[in-house]
Amino acid sequence: MIAKNILRTYHEPGIVILKITRPKALNALNTEVLLELKALLIEESENLETRVLLLTGEGDKAFIAGADITEMQNMTPSDGIDFSRLGHDVTKLLELMPQPTIAVVQGYALGGGTEMALACDFILASHQAVFGQPEVKLGVIPGFGATFRLAKFVGLPRAKELIFTGQRIDANEALRIGLVNHIFPADTLLSEALQLAQTISMQSFSAVGRAKKLMNEFSESIGLNFKLDAEAQAFGQLFNSVDQKEGMCAFVEKRKPHFQGLK
Ligand code: COA
Repeated sequence: MIAKNILRTYHEPGIVILKITRPKALNALNTEVLLELKALLIEESENLETRVLLLTGEGDKAFIAGADITEMQNMTPSDGIDFSRLGHDVTKLLELMPQPTIAVVQGYALGGGTEMALACDFILASHQAVFGQPEVKLGVIPGFGATFRLAKFVGLPRAKELIFTGQRIDANEALRIGLVNHIFPADTLLSEALQLAQTISMQSFSAVGRAKKLMNEFSESIGLNFKLDAEAQAFGQLFNSVDQKEGMCAFVEKRKPHFQGLK
């Protein structure tokens, strides 16, 4: 399929790069981008030639600056649940497709950006990368999987700290806490990622795919679908709250939010 917001390129041997190309909105994920990503990931998961998939964003500034706040601003709880489920469709494909998936993060990976990266098998980042789950600053919670996937990378206490504070961390800190596997200078990040993808793609695909499947299954203590559904419900319910309206409105109006209970 031809996508408006995603550039797909093929590299020998069997490496596919999906690059989100919405740099004016720092590659933020709206419904259109998510639907395109979903369709391309379905195609690639079924493509017998594809051995490794890289996910990245256009421009130096952002990998993905999160779910699209302008679109989310006026969502109802049921819109919120549907939006979360669409994000889950994409993250599930990244996580469960037989081919290894690698997030190549240059610049901001915030909210849904960190979550897309967490759904990949692992993350490579530039020295300029910035990660974070700032949803509580908008009166909501992570809705694309970070409520459980972040702890898999960094452990529960650090995941809680990141989600409760909404604070951003730089690439060095992300490396230190185990969120990213490696960091590189921005100008060599993609070639390093391609080199690693090439090493993986030269191995037995059936062996790598089987290892991925088992390692994913063994790391789930309760079922993935149960977690995804619980997260979508909680994310959606917050679209009933005054704080969500205030948090997202404040972002769009470029001012600080005044949450209930805060002086
Ligand atoms: N949704 C929608 N639009 C977004 C966006 C998002 N998540 N993140 C950035 N944008 C847009 C901005 O609104 C701005 O658009 P404009 O030029 O039409 O005003 C453009 O991208 C550039 O962003 P800007 O905020 O001006 O850049 P900056 O360098 O000052 O700050 C960030 C960069 C990433 C720190 C800041 O954009 C930000 O905090 N984004 C939101 C991150 C977030 O909360 N994500 C989680 C959502 S659940």
